[in-house]
Amino acid sequence: MEIVNMTELNKTQIIQAAQMLNESIPAGWPTLQHAMDEIETLLVPGNTLLAAVEDGIVVGWGGILAPIYNGNVFELHPLVVRSDKRKQGIGRAIVTALEDEARKQGGLTIYLGADDERGNGETSLANVDLFDDLPGKLASFDAGTHQSGFYLKLGYKIIGVMPDANGRGKPDIYFGKRL
Ligand SMILES: CC(C)(COP(=O)(O)OP(=O)(O)OC[C@H]1O[C@@H](n2cnc3c(N)ncnc32)[C@H](O)[C@@H]1OP(=O)(O)O)[C@@H](O)C(=O)NCCC(=O)NCCS
Repeated sequence: MEIVNMTELNKTQIIQAAQMLNESIPAGWPTLQHAMDEIETLLVPGNTLLAAVEDGIVVGWGGILAPIYNGNVFELHPLVVRSDKRKQGIGRAIVTALEDEARKQGGLTIYLGADDERGNGETSLANVDLFDDLPGKLASFDAGTHQSGFYLKLGYKIIGVMPDANGRGKPDIYFGKRL
């Protein structure tokens, strides 16, 4: 598996990247066309998109957006690994490469928003009043089945929440890490 800049991918590989985004996060990108449009929008100078490629096939990809706060802060967006290729270290490899790139560009902090929006909520921050004792709720955070567990494994900490970001009881959870 190698990590390559997505500016180097061919059309077939871009479609592979779009397919996994649509299939993995349909709430964000409900059709293949939505996912293709997203890649086209993101694949511009200033952003860095990196793909994990195995035998010429894209098995995962992610990006960092042009920095904010005078170049100090980078947003990780998006991140996806093909469903049959998960839990093999590919997500970690992509995130590590993106962190290295952000660090190289002078970043101090990397962050992301992880929506807890599926079904009845996956983490302990779903379906509770986040305006009531948020510190207490953060102290006893339970990732459940949510991708939050992945970010915690990689050393990210919860740095904030947006209550009801995706509807009542469906927060966006902000994770950050020092670069
Ligand atoms: C989240 C995602 C990118 C992780 O990719 P991955 O390739 O499976 O992750 P890795 O194999 O590199 O995992 C690294 C570590 O995190 C752990 N991990 C991975 N997913 C996890 C999860 N959902 N919950 C808890 N731990 C998890 C792995 O077991 C591994 O732990 P280890 O170092 O002890 O072995 C992948 O599950 C995915 O694409 N999900 C759907 C899209 C998505 O949710 N994107 C993120 C939007 S914010």
